[in-house]
Amino acid sequence: MTSKLIAPSVLAADFANLQRDIEMINNSNADWFHIDIMDGVFVPNISFGMPVLRDIVKHAKKTIDVHLMIVDPDRYIQTFAALGSNILTVHYEACTHLHRTLQAIKAEGMKAGVAINPHTNVSLLEDTIQDIDLVCIMSVNPGFGGQSFIENTYEKVKQLRRIIDKKGANTLIEIDGGVTNKNAKQLIDAGADVLVAGSFVFKSEDPIKTIKELKEIVKV
Ligand code: DX5
Ligand code: ZN
Repeated sequence: MTSKLIAPSVLAADFANLQRDIEMINNSNADWFHIDIMDGVFVPNISFGMPVLRDIVKHAKKTIDVHLMIVDPDRYIQTFAALGSNILTVHYEACTHLHRTLQAIKAEGMKAGVAINPHTNVSLLEDTIQDIDLVCIMSVNPGFGGQSFIENTYEKVKQLRRIIDKKGANTLIEIDGGVTNKNAKQLIDAGADVLVAGSFVFKSEDPIKTIKELKEIVKV
């Protein structure tokens, strides 16, 4: 039996106890650290920047999955590589020359991800899908944790799965926003590979147990 992946979102951690929360993820069944970087321009919120990421990477023992919610991400590709990002995801809506951006991310030795907002149709990725290691389908409007899941996401996952299979690509499908034990199974059945979970993990009474339960649900 194999398992799909769970990526707790550090955005929902307690920043005054960040090392404790990082160690919790290290000691859990989680697969990746999902790191949300917001610039207050692409999204109406500012999360944290390079110094905090540097300190997270110092303690984190799992894949570092960085989600850039910033305009002009090309400016910072080398910086995020140097900080230790393993996957760097940019927003489709923030890239004028997406293909060039993807090549630049890979040239720095990282996996290249593309995130799409809820209003962006997956078919727009058809011509670049073979160059994309991961598509992050936003299941909320990016900018904040704790929002409720947009139901139309299931349909988008199915459409994207069809495109990936048709093109013979190896792209992973990640879902970000409002993921809980109520929608996890349906998302995996629709074709998702990675589920990001922020509030559902960190606001639960026992995050280690919550991650374990999610991992059970995503077994295939
Ligand atoms: C939202 C971020 C998400 C967020 C998810 O803009 O990209 O990664 O942390 O948080 P929850 O799981 O609480 O919706
Ligand atoms: Zn995210």
